Amino acid sequence: MNRLKDKRIIVTGAATGIGKAVAEACVAQGAQVVIADLNAAVGQATADAIGAGFVACDVSDEASVKAMIAAAVERLGGLDGLVNNAGLQKAGPIETTSLADWDALMAVNIRGVFLATRDAIPHLKAAGGGSIVNTASLAGKRGGPGIGAYAASKGGVMAFTTSTALELARDGIRANSVCPGFIDTPFNDPAIGFMGGREAQARAVEIMVPMGRQATPEEVAPMYVYLLSDEASYVTAQALSVDGGVYN
Ligand SMILES: NC(=O)c1ccc[n+]([C@@H]2O[C@H](COP(=O)([O-])OP(=O)(O)OC[C@H]3O[C@@H](n4cnc5c(N)ncnc54)[C@H](O)[C@@H]3O)[C@@H](O)[C@H]2O)c1
Repeated sequence: MNRLKDKRIIVTGAATGIGKAVAEACVAQGAQVVIADLNAAVGQATADAIGAGFVACDVSDEASVKAMIAAAVERLGGLDGLVNNAGLQKAGPIETTSLADWDALMAVNIRGVFLATRDAIPHLKAAGGGSIVNTASLAGKRGGPGIGAYAASKGGVMAFTTSTALELARDGIRANSVCPGFIDTPFNDPAIGFMGGREAQARAVEIMVPMGRQATPEEVAPMYVYLLSDEASYVTAQALSVDGGVYN
């Protein structure tokens, strides 16, 4: 119940899906949590429902992230953990991917991680250390047809996370990526469309995933709780898969 007692944590992209499950699990383990999300209506409702704070934020926008970190830190009274989870997915063949789609993915998925990390570091240092957990993806480890731009953005998240960890290790700040596999949220609708629909995706999951099924967001959240907690005090610079055995 108290694995994150008194930890002050920001979770981006937590209005729905994996981030919501992470925020909920953190609150259940005694943390104070602020949700930061572009979707103000759903984000506020989620925050109210789970007992978290909410700050509206576009993680791809420098000024918005700066204001969000300041507001969240003021509300929390400091910062011990940052979960960079907000993400965007677009799918399609590389030869028809528009520059606008490429740039949109990079802006949210990797620029957003950089901006929030940069602005959180002074607060984590002031707290004497902390934990940064970035949501990467199986796609960032493996790539795949139809997800070239998305996979590139998540590969970037893993490389940035490693550098963050190595640069800040002596400051007591750990940084790790979580690489979810197939998690059942509407987020995957673009990729499912590219694969030929839900039935085709279900067949692909059956073949590709050793455990033969997708996971729920609640099955991914415990990895974040672990990495945010002091139980993971010697774990840094890792990209940990939660994918039913796909990446091995
Ligand atoms: N669902 C999967 O199978 C899967 C697999 C691997 C990785 N992921 C990653 O998990 C993370 C969460 O995805 P999910 O499946 O829970 O989907 P989701 O759509 O439920 O969650 C994404 C959240 O990010 C928010 N968001 C989007 N753009 C934003 C922005 N510019 N600023 C702030 N918030 C923004 C959305 O409002 C939403 O709340 C993403 O980073 C995604 O890449 C998902």
